[in-house]
Amino acid sequence: MPFKTPGANSIYIRSILPKEKDEKLRQISLYADENMIPVLLPETAAFLKQAVMLKNPKKILEIGTAIGYSGHVILGACDGHLYTIEADEKSLKKANEFFTSSGYKDRVTTYLGDANEIVPLFSGEFDFIFLDGPKTRYIQYLPYLKRMLSPGGILLCDNVLFNGMVSGESEVVKKKATIVNALDLFLRTITSDEDFVTSVLPVGDGVSLSIKKE
Ligand SMILES: C[S@@+](CC[C@H](N)C(=O)[O-])C[C@H]1O[C@@H](n2cnc3c(N)ncnc32)[C@H](O)[C@@H]1O
Repeated sequence: MPFKTPGANSIYIRSILPKEKDEKLRQISLYADENMIPVLLPETAAFLKQAVMLKNPKKILEIGTAIGYSGHVILGACDGHLYTIEADEKSLKKANEFFTSSGYKDRVTTYLGDANEIVPLFSGEFDFIFLDGPKTRYIQYLPYLKRMLSPGGILLCDNVLFNGMVSGESEVVKKKATIVNALDLFLRTITSDEDFVTSVLPVGDGVSLSIKKE
């Protein structure tokens, strides 16, 4: 997310992370920077990649495709199929172009539309879900995502600390109060849900990682 000045930890972590070697990821990242499109922070991308490698999922759901940066991270870390939802037509068009030119097209199914309407329609089981869509809706999606996640499946959610405003590290900007309250409720709900084992980590803008118990 380009709107936050990184703290000392993030600056340090980014300085020691190796430069991205994947040409396609570099190209998408450049396009994102030039067009002010928020995509994964470098340290979050590294964490997502590891989580996917550990699980090696066969069926992945993503909410919030944007231009396909995180989709490429996911597909590069496993051999599964990605189902990804994006509301913005222009972004999804670009994502599809990138998925095609990178050779991933056969491993991705993209959905254009509002995740609020699409998520309840899914019935299959996923073994990895990456939630990076509208932050006020995480709490609303949770019952559906929980149902769709296979036992042992992983739910990874980005931006859960939202510029430090959820934890109180930063002052809550008034017009962001709805998002902050919704994320706080989401985190309290998921960490107290006994069907999940959850950790909340200050990686990038904050991530939660939940494993659905077998
Ligand atoms: C932070 S960006 C996703 C970044 C992407 N995951 C990445 O790292 O490459 C969030 C995306 O969610 C999309 N979005 C917002 N509300 C949505 C909704 N109701 N349904 C589907 N997508 C939505 C936005 O258009 C935006 O592209």
